[in-house]
Amino acid sequence: MKQIKVYQNDRYKKLGDLYGLFFEDINHAADGGLYAELVQNRSFEYCEIDKSDYTPLTAWEKSEDARWEVINDRPLNAENTHYLKVEAAKKGSYIKNRGFNTGIFVEAGKKYDFSVFARFDACADAKAVEDEGGLAIMVVDEEGRVCAKADALITVAASDAWKKYELELAAETTTYNGRLVITFDNVGIYELDMISLFPQDTFMGRKGGLRADIAEALKEMKPKFMRFPGGCLTHDGSLNDHDRNSMYRWRRTLGKVEERPTWRNNWRYNQTLGLGYYEYFCFCEDIGAKPLPVLPGGFNPHKGEGVPIENIGEWVQEALDLIEFANGDVNTKYGAIRAEMGHSAPFNMEYIGIGNEEIGEGFFERYPYFHNAIREKYPEIKIINSAGPFAVGEGYVAGWTSAKMYGSDLIDEHYYSSPEWFLANMHHYDDYDENGPKVFLGEYASWGNTYYNAIVEAAYMTHLEKARAVALACYAPMLCNVDYVNWRPDMLWFNNHAIMKTPNYFVQKMFMEHQGTDEVKIELSELSDVIRLIDKETISGGVVIQGNDVTGRIWDVKLTGKNSGEVCEATDIDITNNNEYKIFDTDDENDYTLEFKFKRSSGRKGLKIFFGKKANSFLLWEFGGWDNWDCNITSTVNGRGSTISHRIFHVEDIEYTLKLEVSGRNIKTYVNGEMYNDTTDRLPELEELYVAASIDRGTGETIVKVVNLTGEDKNVEIVLDGDAKTMAEVTALEGYELSAENTFEKPDYIGLLKETRPVKDNKLAHLFEAHSVNVIVFK
Ligand code: AHR
Repeated sequence: MKQIKVYQNDRYKKLGDLYGLFFEDINHAADGGLYAELVQNRSFEYCEIDKSDYTPLTAWEKSEDARWEVINDRPLNAENTHYLKVEAAKKGSYIKNRGFNTGIFVEAGKKYDFSVFARFDACADAKAVEDEGGLAIMVVDEEGRVCAKADALITVAASDAWKKYELELAAETTTYNGRLVITFDNVGIYELDMISLFPQDTFMGRKGGLRADIAEALKEMKPKFMRFPGGCLTHDGSLNDHDRNSMYRWRRTLGKVEERPTWRNNWRYNQTLGLGYYEYFCFCEDIGAKPLPVLPGGFNPHKGEGVPIENIGEWVQEALDLIEFANGDVNTKYGAIRAEMGHSAPFNMEYIGIGNEEIGEGFFERYPYFHNAIREKYPEIKIINSAGPFAVGEGYVAGWTSAKMYGSDLIDEHYYSSPEWFLANMHHYDDYDENGPKVFLGEYASWGNTYYNAIVEAAYMTHLEKARAVALACYAPMLCNVDYVNWRPDMLWFNNHAIMKTPNYFVQKMFMEHQGTDEVKIELSELSDVIRLIDKETISGGVVIQGNDVTGRIWDVKLTGKNSGEVCEATDIDITNNNEYKIFDTDDENDYTLEFKFKRSSGRKGLKIFFGKKANSFLLWEFGGWDNWDCNITSTVNGRGSTISHRIFHVEDIEYTLKLEVSGRNIKTYVNGEMYNDTTDRLPELEELYVAASIDRGTGETIVKVVNLTGEDKNVEIVLDGDAKTMAEVTALEGYELSAENTFEKPDYIGLLKETRPVKDNKLAHLFEAHSVNVIVFK
């Protein structure tokens, strides 16, 4: 009989903080998302640097009789410089804000906190001259019906000084399309800034806090850590922290929200920074996750720009200050700021990341300055280096070389790949040295939010759990506002009033919630079949060359079949725009060499050379890809690509001799005779069952995770060696078609099933359904 034997007392790897979350302010994850502010562009700071169609009045409208302008002559403070000046020509003039998505969501029976900074000036040339201004605040629906209102007006004193006014709104009707309306009760000139509306019902009831439904869904997962604030968000920007498009500089996010700057978010929108570093730390504490901040390393890999080495000290100090902010005594400078913001106790930060996906020498020259200073001052902090954006290649090797050379505690790996790549690379970490820097898989996902993607990720996670060198892992990205998509797939989707959990979310939750403290030994009997999903050993199909935003010429094109020795030649080609030029079909060839010469005459990038091209699957050699930084090989299966080789390369306007050698699944490229890529496109295969087991020292539970990716149910006996258990709680994700997804219309279509089963003689016979993920907790 098929059997999984679990040796409860043979403990291997300490699982530590293995499964966590990665928060990036992408897809409006913060503003218009987790940060519960309902007003969009509350401080009139939007500008075209953030997004080309933004203006200071984005998201606002007014009644015809009102005159308005956004000015900055007498600002609220030095960081929040723009404000709205409205001349209300008559009683009843108004301004309106449309919030995010379809509008402002208010729910009948709930209360809301409105606040505004305001000044009033009686209007000399108006008919009625008033001593004070009056503001009526309400939320109306698209028909203008009042959904939420306050009992009183706000009376704005005629004064030169800014004053904050606050009011509570009560909602009587629910709307998803609300507009915040501020009606001017008195004629005059009003100056307004930081117009804000928050639900009182935020996560843990915090004033000006986080959206409860999103935050609760994350807390429920029981993450061990949370990486923040991004991704490319951290390092893509200018090196000057006072620039609008600055890299993410944590110190600028402290203090009162109205005194924080607002910035361009590199995902092409505005970030208010209302959700800043202090709030990130508090949120981590609230959900029981260890904070794992990532700082830019003084180098922007998108532009290849780095801070001069002689100035790196300021950036290093910023990292040291962050540790002081998180952990320092209240008598230290930054510990005192933390205390003043409301948290005297330290946040007990243990990890710090330097850099995100950096490639290029520029980063690795700068990393040691951070590393050495942090190590010297805070030897207890675990320092995380960066291994670039792919699971292979030059950035990856450079990251690992640097991490080993300096003794980084961990190294941050990222990859987004096809499910087939995950199936082919289950044993990716088996040979990694557990005594060197540990792997922090800081971003990963298979391309898609289908049931199939999720169960493949679950299988991969059983291997992450067993790989000795892997210490931390988090799926990415975490959040997506459905109306502002920068990136997909994402773990948890939301609109302005509801959330939608993906199957990937459920897999992450199952593994996080039942992580365990120690991996234990397992033995599988009669479960050893490995099934090849694709039998093809060769790479055959079309060879197609495409310009990548360039014009140029290709000549001396020939394809030589290795076995047949046959040589085919193609005519010279003028590359224009992004036109595709079919060169050959290699259906009859197993192994071949393609050679040609290329010269670019205009444009910034280079060529895309497709080979093994079928309808929706192909291999691609990108010569001068991603902003002319890459010489990559990508393998695409069913439209989903995986990078399988990466070198840094910048194409210039000179003549190149290019060669592609295909031999079985091995691919080599040469540029002017020098080999640039050498990789094997591994084929996906299935293990009969994917299994990992752990014990939890705290609860005394034994946890067995079983993923069945085959199309057949598997009847398996689980036998526990050691401590007696009497009951098993089974959580399963099972029974869906592989292409199934949750949607906002049917958010609960895919969900978890739970059952409790008795355990006799430390044995449990269980049917693991075809295409299922199962977590069994023995008690
Ligand atoms: O997760 C989305 C993006 O993917 C991150 O910002 C970046 O680190 C990666 O390239």
